[in-house]
Amino acid sequence: MAGRIPQQFIDDLLARVDIVDVVDERVPLKRAGRDYTARCPFHDEKTPSFTVSQEKQFYHCFGCGAHGSAVGFLMDYAHLSFVEAIGELASRAGLQVPVGEGEAQLGAERHELYEILSEAAKFYRAQLREHPDAGRAVAYLKARGLSGQIAAAFGVGYAPPGWDRLLQHLGNGPGRIEALERAGLLVQKDAGRRYDRFRDRIMFPILDRQGRTIGFGGRVVGDGKPKYLNSPETPVFHKGKEVYGLFQVRQARSSPAQLLVVEGYMDVVALAQFGIEGAVATLGTAITPDHLQQLFRATAKLVFCFDGDAAGQRAAWRALEATLPLMSEGRQAAFMFLPEGQDPDSAIRLGGGEAFASLLGAAQPLSRFFFDHLAAQVELRSLDGRARLVELCKPLLARLPRGAFKQLMTARLAELSGMAPALLSGLLEGGTSRVSREERLLPTTAQAPSLVRKTITLLLHAPGLAQTVDDHRAFAELELAGADVLTQLLELLHAKPELSMAGIVEHFRETDIGRHLRKLAVAEDPIAFGGDREREFRDAIRKLQSKIKEQRLGQLQAKASTASLSEDEKREFAGLLRDSGPTKGQEP
Ligand code: UTP
Ligand code: MN
Repeated sequence: MAGRIPQQFIDDLLARVDIVDVVDERVPLKRAGRDYTARCPFHDEKTPSFTVSQEKQFYHCFGCGAHGSAVGFLMDYAHLSFVEAIGELASRAGLQVPVGEGEAQLGAERHELYEILSEAAKFYRAQLREHPDAGRAVAYLKARGLSGQIAAAFGVGYAPPGWDRLLQHLGNGPGRIEALERAGLLVQKDAGRRYDRFRDRIMFPILDRQGRTIGFGGRVVGDGKPKYLNSPETPVFHKGKEVYGLFQVRQARSSPAQLLVVEGYMDVVALAQFGIEGAVATLGTAITPDHLQQLFRATAKLVFCFDGDAAGQRAAWRALEATLPLMSEGRQAAFMFLPEGQDPDSAIRLGGGEAFASLLGAAQPLSRFFFDHLAAQVELRSLDGRARLVELCKPLLARLPRGAFKQLMTARLAELSGMAPALLSGLLEGGTSRVSREERLLPTTAQAPSLVRKTITLLLHAPGLAQTVDDHRAFAELELAGADVLTQLLELLHAKPELSMAGIVEHFRETDIGRHLRKLAVAEDPIAFGGDREREFRDAIRKLQSKIKEQRLGQLQAKASTASLSEDEKREFAGLLRDSGPTKGQEP
């Protein structure tokens, strides 16, 4: 996503807008010294710990850890996508978001698909009203309790019987048949003959966040197999990413308090019919991290709804596992189980809206489902059982992002297992031998920060310091964790000396480096308690430079002991020896 909009534009944009204005419009700020503060909009608090720095163009809450640039603020506070946030900032700065040439080409192709999919949706809707065979479909929908109003709200249509009704209707004109095919609306027989994918089916259009039709689900009228036929993957439709019904939910309420995640098209539609707000469905696939990202962008609370049978329990547990890594501050998840053999559609028709709403109200918070589910697998009364519980929890708790929720979950495990919290924390921390790629990139231990880490942090807080280093490419040689990050950062700041902290962070958005830089950006400012940034930085750079020399010296020494050095290498060796003096026994 981030790659679509030219980086140069994002840099310029961030240089033009002021995060203080952007935040202040939504969360009134008070000046406090050089910075601005407010009560944090991302968590409940009595005294303000939310700080916005004009100099760094960055916000940070010392209470809950929320942080980011103006773009990040709009994404998190106003629930905008990255592209939408850029668009919003651009319009306030009076700029037009540009698209590159390749992008324009790709855009035109996608545009053609959106257009033809929208025409197809229109055709299917008209067929539901007009086609002589549509009576069966209408009767079927009515029998399932659907009103015309709800059918219209979801754009429900009918694909007529016959092999080529859509093809005949939309396939005229150059390139149209190819477009229909790329949109997933046709299938090709072996002899190359094409025909309509959807025939004699009730059609549910699938819309994206912006309300564009990107695909369809088609239900057989009555009984028959397959019950549902879905659009295949196309350039505009990705099953593992899209959520059915989200557009309609957001039409009604831009920031819904919660979303109810169900399994089927008919479930979403039936819940809407009975006045239950916020129902969305994945498209016949297990929930993916992409789905979850998209859902958590729209709301802070998800309620997953499953059948009460064994299969439902298994599916719920898989959803829980997928959700764990996303349970960062302020987010909530809960699980509701229906009576066995019911789905939301049948349950609400049977019991009515109120009964369903009370089931929904009784949904189990993630923490309860988590421990109930695991505790059921062990004998809690025995010491062995409690030890087993700890083992079962260990890899799962490791997936939770650091924060209050993780701590509370750990505390609950301490309670259940009877293990002293301190012992348990030690076990959980020490036992996680799987270090994420991110954690390997830079050492982030609580010990004294490494030199590289400190240098990077200084640069984030005072990007101008990069100009004092002239041989920045040499740092790529450093055999220290994080050296590649430092090199890239220096490289970037040499190319773009005017970037703020926010500009840097946006530059590396959605990369491992970016995630790391963000952590360092909100870690303590190294000179917060007095001190001279420039001197600290000069010292650090000098130390790193002598580290590079030491390293090179070691390489040459090693080479000299097994092979002979070239003339150049000998000269280099002599030079290094002269500069460095005695190397053995030096502090690292
Ligand atoms: P269900 O079988 O629960 O269907 O499948 P449903 O939505 O309750 O439909 P009704 O009530 O029988 O009309 C759940 C979802 O799985 C996908 C669809 O997305 C469906 O909504 N599915 C199911 C398919 O893609 N193909 C199928 O053949 C069946
Ligand atoms: Mn159903």
